[in-house]
Amino acid sequence: MIGRLRLWSGYVLFFYVVTHLLNHALGLISLRVLEAGRRWFVFIWHNPAGQTVLYGALLIHFSLALWSLYHRRALKLSHWEWLQWSLGILVVPLGMIHVVGTRLAHEFYGVEPGYPWVLGSLLVGGWESIARQFSLPMVVWVHACIGMHFAWRLKPWYRDALPYLYAGALLVPVAGIAGAAIALRDVADLAQRPGFLENLFDRVRAPTAAQVANLYMISYTLQSVALALLVAMFAARPLRDLWERRAGVVRLDYGERKSVTQPTGFTILEMSRIAGIPHASVCGGRGRCSTCRVRIGGVDRDKLPPAEPEEAKVLARVGAPPNVRLACQVRPPPGHYSVTPLLPASAGPVEAYRRQPQAHGGEQYIAILFADIRGFTSISEGKLPYDVVFLLNRYFRATGQAIESAGGRLDKFIGDGVMALFGLNRTPEVACRQALDAARRMSEALTDLNEALSGDLDQPLRIGIGLHAGPAIVGEMGYERAAQITAIGDTVNTASRLETLTKEFGVELVVSQELLDRAGISLEGAALHNVEIRGRQGRLAVRAVERASDLTPMS
Ligand code: FES
Repeated sequence: MIGRLRLWSGYVLFFYVVTHLLNHALGLISLRVLEAGRRWFVFIWHNPAGQTVLYGALLIHFSLALWSLYHRRALKLSHWEWLQWSLGILVVPLGMIHVVGTRLAHEFYGVEPGYPWVLGSLLVGGWESIARQFSLPMVVWVHACIGMHFAWRLKPWYRDALPYLYAGALLVPVAGIAGAAIALRDVADLAQRPGFLENLFDRVRAPTAAQVANLYMISYTLQSVALALLVAMFAARPLRDLWERRAGVVRLDYGERKSVTQPTGFTILEMSRIAGIPHASVCGGRGRCSTCRVRIGGVDRDKLPPAEPEEAKVLARVGAPPNVRLACQVRPPPGHYSVTPLLPASAGPVEAYRRQPQAHGGEQYIAILFADIRGFTSISEGKLPYDVVFLLNRYFRATGQAIESAGGRLDKFIGDGVMALFGLNRTPEVACRQALDAARRMSEALTDLNEALSGDLDQPLRIGIGLHAGPAIVGEMGYERAAQITAIGDTVNTASRLETLTKEFGVELVVSQELLDRAGISLEGAALHNVEIRGRQGRLAVRAVERASDLTPMS
């Protein structure tokens, strides 16, 4: 809720700045057009509703920014976050003089706060005033753009929209500042005429010297209040830590002898940062991206507070099991926990939106296909490495396309062999039918490949395919970028063993009766064998199929 309020108040302020800069940009045409365009600006913002929304947003944005800094236990921010915070703080002194010199000058002394007054007073104020006034939009703009980037970078449309957003982010401030600069130059030219500035200040009812001093005093007072709040926020942080230390400490074990102990009140992500343990956090700890998710164990795991609705929503999106939480959202109570980050520290926005219910591991009924080229060693003998790679890649492409068009998932290529999974997101019946269909397509694809390569091969390529189905452990396995969804277990070993049996039986396909029964397909014409599989109890009924391409296509 707080994050959203901060974001929406930021949107309001951003819209205000855009309209302000577009108004400035009219200075590129003429002073008259610039002032005429201000009527629209005044129409939007200078009415009770516009003023309430604008100043309400300003107050909310500033207060919530302070609150979020106070609430954040570890001030280990990225460079971009530091830049955004620094610019946000800089907006206060730069913007305060402008607001007091226009809005309050109008409210207190009836000054006309339009362009003539602002540009005229800049001329009188000299280079310091001009530099301050012109740096204000840049500071606000960069602060806002960083905020927008953090808010939008996980949105699916962001990447496509980036070129247009980038163009807008450059054009709007450049046009605005250029327009204001040209308007200032025009006023400076006019000010060469004797009495021009005096007339201008008369017309806009410029404040007297005493009133100007008063306005400066108000501006400095307001700046001091903002500064005092900032200092109070930083002073309150160690006091809060001292207070919370009385409640007890939290110990997190990351394995590999890495652990961190801190007082309560920190999120797991903050504790990781304090301990210098790399941790993914694409959204910067805002609870949106899910890349910081961790598996939590340990004796005190049950003490963890339940996930808030927002966290639960994000966890549901990635299909996280109950022992997985967002590290940026959980503040563990005193106790001893073990923590395992589930994504590499370098995870990016793509991982944030990747939904893989199997990623956290679990048992699932799937169909598995193993295939291997028969006698590939002798085929490759005497061939140049380039030819071997070319041949294998043609084979892999044909095989991969056959598997994927049947609905399977290529798991890995091992040497000249291939392993594929079926049914990660489908029922066991569909999985088994898909596996059979893939075997048929592979066989057909191999025939086509042999024809295409007939001039290059001494003998046609032949493959052996093993198919089996059953429960397997499915999950994301591997390390960092080399991690992927795969399967292990007895079913996988059996499928691999069936593939090697194709040699023994002299056929292209050996498929378990279990898989055929699940698929609802009878291969009465194929030889039935009861085979022993190493490491497996009992015998397994299998069918040996001479040519997989003879299987009936699946509807
Ligand atoms: S860092 Fe993005 S959800 Fe935690």
